[in-house]
Amino acid sequence: MRSPRAGRLRASVLVCAFASVVALVAHPSAHADRPSAPVLTGTPLVAGAAAAQLGATAAPTAQVVVRSAAVSTTQAVVTVDTAGWKLATDVVRLLAADGTPIADAHLTRSGKAVIPVTVKPSGTRPVVVTFPGTTTRRPVVASTAPALLATSQWRVVNKVTPAGPSYKPRELVVGSRVQIDRRAAAPLAAMIKAAAADKAGFYASNGYRAYGWQQGLYTSYARRDGALAADSYSARPGYSEHQTGLAFDAKAIDNRCSLQACFGRTPSGRWLAAHAPAYGFLVRYTPVNSVITGYSPEPWHLRYVGTWMTAYLKESGETSLEEALGLPAAPDYIGPNAFAANP
Ligand code: DAL
Ligand code: ZN
Repeated sequence: MRSPRAGRLRASVLVCAFASVVALVAHPSAHADRPSAPVLTGTPLVAGAAAAQLGATAAPTAQVVVRSAAVSTTQAVVTVDTAGWKLATDVVRLLAADGTPIADAHLTRSGKAVIPVTVKPSGTRPVVVTFPGTTTRRPVVASTAPALLATSQWRVVNKVTPAGPSYKPRELVVGSRVQIDRRAAAPLAAMIKAAAADKAGFYASNGYRAYGWQQGLYTSYARRDGALAADSYSARPGYSEHQTGLAFDAKAIDNRCSLQACFGRTPSGRWLAAHAPAYGFLVRYTPVNSVITGYSPEPWHLRYVGTWMTAYLKESGETSLEEALGLPAAPDYIGPNAFAANP
């Protein structure tokens, strides 16, 4: 067992697909009070003048930020953040390039919206965000280009949206016990440090898991418990969020209730449920969303999405990443199970 402060966090460009399970621990000097912002496409729009002309009150520095991110091979989202701009209505509208309405979305109380856009695989779709009651228009290109999907911190991998056998994250940080996406590393280190200070110490294990690693895990569980039971707690190879490098499993420093439901009642489990969103992490599989994710609750499995998205989820009340991003529920796989002798 290790103190979360004892180890080192070493950044490097990725790499070893078969590294063993090792814990990521905070570098003594690691400091990340503010987790990094999502890497998305698009540029900010200064809307103050237009808004004022139209009678909407706006702080002089208010900015409307419209961006797009790929979330699956066939879907992107457009995100809107109106920040301090007070609009007459809380509705924003997405139009196709020819002006055809695609969808309306409600802004949360801090002015955030997420609008799903269907895009062909590896395709692009120009769209426009409009603000009813104003003349402000904000064009943005929604895209599912593989390069964008590979760097999207909102990529969803679930039972209907696999990562596939060859997917590897672009940049992993190699810690002493886990590898994790570079953008999640500093927030994770900060979270480990804060939990330890609150006497809820945990360490991270099972970060990035390559396809082959997941295959070994899943097939051994399916042999032991049967495929039906294994499917409720272990992803088939190619379908695990761990393959994105954006997820990890938290374990209490004393290893109590390791990977068990009772972890949720340990100080670490309770601390993570309350505080992980402040660091940009979600408890991904909960009792409420298991009908959407198809997995039993896992209070130890954390997924990095950044603080913009955790704030959006808190305000919108949506209980899963699938709902937040307008993706279909994924309670079960489509097609036969090629990875178990007794599917
Ligand atoms: N335990 C989670 C669902 C996984 O195997 O990815
Ligand atoms: Zn996990």
